[in-house]
Amino acid sequence: MASSIPVSHLSEEQAREELADLAVILAQANTDYHTADRPTLTDADYDRLKRRNAEIEARFPSLKRVDSPSEQIGAAVSDGFGKVSHAVRMLSLGNAFTDDDVVDFCDRVRKYLGLRDSETIAFTAEPKIDGLSLSLRYENGQLVQAATRGDGEIGENVTENAKTIADVPQVLQGAPDVLEVRGEVYMSHADFEALNAAQAERAAATGKEPRLFANPRNAAAGSLRQLDSSITRNRPLKFFAYAWGEVSEPLAPTQFEAIARLKALGFSTNPLTRRCDTAEALIQHYHQIEDQRADLGYDIDGVVYKVDDLTLQGRLGFRSTTPRWAIAHKFPAELAWTWLQDIDIQVGRTGALSPVARLQPVTVGGVVVSNATLHNEDYIIGRDSKGEVIRDGKDIRIGDWVQVYRAGDVIPKIADVDLAKRPEDSKPYVFPSRCPQCGSDAIREEGDAVRRCVGGIICPAQAVEKLKHFVSRGAFDIDGLGAKQIEMFYTDESLPIKEPADIFTLRARDSQSLTRLKDREGYGDKSASNLFDAIDEKRSIPLGKLLFGLGIRHVGESASNLIANHFGSWQQLEDALTSATVGEGAAWEDLLSVDGVGAVMAASLVTTFHQEQERASIDRLVAQLEIRNAEKRASADSPVAGQTVVFTGTLEKMTRAEAKARAESLGAKVAGSVSGKTDLLVAGPGAGSKAKKAESLGVKTIDEDGWLALIGDL
Ligand code: IVH
Repeated sequence: MASSIPVSHLSEEQAREELADLAVILAQANTDYHTADRPTLTDADYDRLKRRNAEIEARFPSLKRVDSPSEQIGAAVSDGFGKVSHAVRMLSLGNAFTDDDVVDFCDRVRKYLGLRDSETIAFTAEPKIDGLSLSLRYENGQLVQAATRGDGEIGENVTENAKTIADVPQVLQGAPDVLEVRGEVYMSHADFEALNAAQAERAAATGKEPRLFANPRNAAAGSLRQLDSSITRNRPLKFFAYAWGEVSEPLAPTQFEAIARLKALGFSTNPLTRRCDTAEALIQHYHQIEDQRADLGYDIDGVVYKVDDLTLQGRLGFRSTTPRWAIAHKFPAELAWTWLQDIDIQVGRTGALSPVARLQPVTVGGVVVSNATLHNEDYIIGRDSKGEVIRDGKDIRIGDWVQVYRAGDVIPKIADVDLAKRPEDSKPYVFPSRCPQCGSDAIREEGDAVRRCVGGIICPAQAVEKLKHFVSRGAFDIDGLGAKQIEMFYTDESLPIKEPADIFTLRARDSQSLTRLKDREGYGDKSASNLFDAIDEKRSIPLGKLLFGLGIRHVGESASNLIANHFGSWQQLEDALTSATVGEGAAWEDLLSVDGVGAVMAASLVTTFHQEQERASIDRLVAQLEIRNAEKRASADSPVAGQTVVFTGTLEKMTRAEAKARAESLGAKVAGSVSGKTDLLVAGPGAGSKAKKAESLGVKTIDEDGWLALIGDL
């Protein structure tokens, strides 16, 4: 809460802490105000805290937070929506930034499909709307559900709110029985200005500070995610349809015609959508859209290209979170100049020391930026990760006048330094060789761009970051236990959380404690018991999420799922990692045979499981959990689910990459070599040693047509 110390007497540390507290309190107050759900602050208190926040920021501009309440006003979000599981995942898009990236995308598509030079392939090109995506489900022509994207698998049920949007038809004539229409909710520039003007006017009339939205996207998001749909009704939201999820029958044979069909059904579709045959034509259309950008009346942040033929889209399929058949060509980043006031070092969960630029706050593309990443020590001295010179070799120093750039949601970066404005007494930045958090040595291994604290779990920063990762989305994702609460519990004396297992003993420890959680500031009976319930809910966890949650270096979310699919159960995974030796043996080879697992990741997994303290901590955690075996994404009744397949020789109807991706999507494992574990060899013409080995091991061998017949693609 705001302290009573006069702002002029605050130390920097006190100011930092108070700004952090104020950000939380005011964000909560905004939510309460906007949802009109449970107001917690009087207007006078709200204004007083806002003023104090502004005064502290004025005295310590460098401490202004990215989530500063002076900027982030009004975008109330709520936890109060029901959850919706998407029938078909809502994916994001890969990005292209240069013309070469676009040419590469087209080449990748052609190569994947094995097209000959003489064969053309069509793409659609359309604006990338800067709003938030929404999935509308129609059954028998009636709108039955609307959901936000959420994490792509589970979104929020915003049906009542979506029904208030004029562009969203509630009834469709002549639509498939089941139709999920996907698109972007956005707010036009004019409506955004008018909304903010009305907010300002209302505030002036009551003598309060206005609560304004920072940009149209925030306004659209804040308006759609209102618990009270009568508030959404009064917000001028719009919707463009550009994709679909589950459909009971195909909309059309091509993307272009499918969008035309959506238009005929009554949806707004973007008039700048074109069909193009070459990368050059796509790029030309991109520049045409870029030229019109300022006059469109709504925000766009790039152009999306999609393979037009829906059969080809189906063949191309998806990587873990993005389609192979589409890409977003982003507009160039926004730039601004400001002073670099300080360089802080943050310590991550794997001990990486990351330098962060503290900037004099500056507006870049409509967003106030006060921090930027400096990546690592090489980046500061003017070299990239390959050792090549960047920024013409100019180093970055505290006190420099620097150019900041921001592309979409990417963390802002320092693009350039103006040496003419460099203070005369400035000195090159000396990167610390000790961990600023625990004092352990910070070592940079050969070939690694990053310096790391060797403190392991004795380093509080690593422990806290590991815990934050553990509770994050994609991992355990525990309601009511986010980064803030982890920081609080980590240093808590009566109810500490020092490692993941401690989360699951929290309820039991609390019941034995004299200072019960429910009696603490910020908690009550209900919120404490909600937290314990939310924790208990996650005792049952899928294997992939557990593995990802452990935060093992190099082991990301999609690799965790692939590894989980490969081993199936915790028991199998644990046995394999415990018995494996780095660099040799059957268990090591088996690990490497998992699609997406290379030697570096495998070594990291094996080392972690052999590290005594880490292992003990994992065992304590596992004892608290009920680990669900990995579910194959593909239907279990696929004829090749769970089988290990090897492709060899020339394939004529598909490329090797396509064959592999298709087999995996059906739940098969694809290995590079034949062994006793191989179930099936698919051999095209020219198959050599692998076919012989399969024969000697008695492995079933079929040709390409046999494979296509087996999986039902012939
Ligand atoms: S297609 C499977 N088309 O961009 C691909 N997305 O960065 C589905 N977006 O989550 C998306 N305009 O919210 C597509 N014309 C457009 C889009 C568009 C905006 C958003 C969408 C998506 C995000 C990916």
